[in-house]
Amino acid sequence: MSDPNDLSALLSEVWQHLGRGAADGRHPARYPTLATVSPAGMPEARTVALRAARRSQNRLEAHTDISTPKVASLAHHPWAQFHIWIPRADLQLRITTRVEIVTGTEVQAQWDAVPAASRVSYGTAPVPGTPIDHVYAYDKPPVRDRFAVLSCDVHEMDVVHLGAQHRRALFRAEDDWTGQWVAP
Ligand SMILES: Cc1cc2nc3c(=O)[nH]c(=O)nc-3n(C[C@H](O)[C@H](O)[C@H](O)COP(=O)(O)O)c2cc1C
Repeated sequence: MSDPNDLSALLSEVWQHLGRGAADGRHPARYPTLATVSPAGMPEARTVALRAARRSQNRLEAHTDISTPKVASLAHHPWAQFHIWIPRADLQLRITTRVEIVTGTEVQAQWDAVPAASRVSYGTAPVPGTPIDHVYAYDKPPVRDRFAVLSCDVHEMDVVHLGAQHRRALFRAEDDWTGQWVAP
């Protein structure tokens, strides 16, 4: 059995799960909850799909429509937290990131990789959140210019493991990811 006191092994396990989530639609890390703060200072949370997880760059990626309210929130306050619960591993991840909203030619490669059927997620008319007169009174054309990549620079990870004895660790970029056990 691996050493439960090994912080670096726990961090590697976390990145393995994130990588699997980005690659496999059935892994629980595929659909994190992404929490932001609205311009009025209110909490907001929603499900997103995890599209990339690169440990070498400390970066997570999600895709969105620039007309969604979350983009306005991130433009105002560029911090977001991913929340992921992985039942089989008994792991809760809370990952604090600074988010850059990337659009245009810089995200052409990602757009090219979006299946045609999924491109309609970027372009809803009227824009998401607008009141409508009938349940289906909207269109979903694919609109290339509405596609954005949320490029999320990981600053901190709070990891809780519910084992026979619970473990909780904080990993921070500013500590070069050495990690610190904290009381769970
Ligand atoms: C399983 C699932 C996956 C989703 N994936 C995304 C996603 O990758 N990007 C996104 O912008 N919205 C995604 N959504 C929709 C959001 O949860 C949300 O309803 C929408 O983006 C508007 O959010 P906002 O008003 O907070 O901006 C997903 C919803 C579900 C249920």
